[in-house]
Amino acid sequence: MAQARDLLDAGERLGPEELRALQLERLRASLRHAYEHVPFYRESFDQAGVRPEDCRSLEDLARFPFTTKADLRENYPFGMFAVPRERIRRLHASSGTTGRPTVVGYTENDLSMWADMVARSIRAAGGRPGDVVHVAYGYGLFTGGLGAHYGAERLGCTVVPASGGMTARQVRLIQDLEPAVIMVTPSYMLTLLDEFERQGVDPRTTSLRVGIFGAEPWTEQMRREIEERFAIDAVDIYGLSEVVGPGVAQECVETKDGLTVWEDHFYPEVIDPVTGELLPEGERGELVFTSLSKEAMPIVRYRTRDLTRLLPGTARVFRRMEKISGRSDDLVILRGVNLFPTQIEEIVLRTPGVAPHFQLRLTREGRMDSLTVRAEARQGATPQAREAAARSIVAAVKDGIGVSVDVEIVEPESLERSVGKIRRIVDLRPRDTGQA
Ligand code: DLL
Repeated sequence: MAQARDLLDAGERLGPEELRALQLERLRASLRHAYEHVPFYRESFDQAGVRPEDCRSLEDLARFPFTTKADLRENYPFGMFAVPRERIRRLHASSGTTGRPTVVGYTENDLSMWADMVARSIRAAGGRPGDVVHVAYGYGLFTGGLGAHYGAERLGCTVVPASGGMTARQVRLIQDLEPAVIMVTPSYMLTLLDEFERQGVDPRTTSLRVGIFGAEPWTEQMRREIEERFAIDAVDIYGLSEVVGPGVAQECVETKDGLTVWEDHFYPEVIDPVTGELLPEGERGELVFTSLSKEAMPIVRYRTRDLTRLLPGTARVFRRMEKISGRSDDLVILRGVNLFPTQIEEIVLRTPGVAPHFQLRLTREGRMDSLTVRAEARQGATPQAREAAARSIVAAVKDGIGVSVDVEIVEPESLERSVGKIRRIVDLRPRDTGQA
């Protein structure tokens, strides 16, 4: 069932030719804006020997240099801004696990465009004006909470700005305020699930109809788990602060076939992460974004480090991206074999006897790296069931990924719970010695 055309906004109703024309016009203006107002872009374009007017077709974008997280760090805090600081209405910052954080800024128009894109995302997910939307993404410098909040208001919803944490209260609020939509990280949704059960409330009986989950990778297995346990539709939302925040791409509930990229504002490319070469549609690589309409902080060919591939549009005129399989930063190379936490998630979630909570521990003995998958037993799982689960995970990892790992089935509720983005990998290897 396709979304009724009269529910779509003007951008979503464009024909393919109109879309390309609009993208090119916006791209050229955006490159010019960056070049004229941000010394960093002027230098990097000059060094690469390209000028904004060299971009005569969308394909010409590939001639322009990339921008990386390191570039943003070096220009901390306001060096990437293309407008005077007084025109910036809001700042957000990425947590930055190492080194300096990165700061991003928005003009009034940027905030409005962002709200439009999140409103569009919520609608694509199945939310409607008048719905109550429970926002459990963190509020603050993180873009999740406020991004979701203003988008839901823009759509005409009633927002519950719950933020993350105080899990018992979240369950109470969901029962009392009867939201139709919840916006939260998938890992925190599982924390909420535990809390529903602890309070003896059947999570399938809530008013929730749709969950909009993002900010971290999650799998089809996780979708099934959440949909079944809560009796809701679970769809994926993607974004990053450097590009805008949540609402860069959104899965449409009528197809659930990957995320539609809102490419009338954010132009995607996929490149070979090693050579930097542009890859043809359908090939997997690193996602790169160029903003087409941002004023405060135009971003040109930003390397996200997220791995995916582009696919033709289905529910909308825009292209889709496959669910993110992982970030290049989260890639574990174990004795020469590449492994992403999402691959382990798929295996753990289809193993009987274990709960959907797991952690990956990397250790080193001598020169040998080992990975231990720690997964939680389900309540009431017998010792035999736990042993069978461990054996089954070892075998599935060996068969499916091609590497031997250790598996430890730990007590129910013993692993740390997420209140926002979860960290799957605990790296206990000594620093500064040898190679993985
Ligand atoms: O996580 C923005 C966001 C908030 C997106 C709420 C969706 C919902 P950052 O903190 O800048 O921004 O982190 C961005 O998170 O490069 C991905 O690695 C990861 N990420 C975000 N959404 C998804 C997703 C927000 N749906 C980084 N699937 C990105 C997989 C995601 N990874």
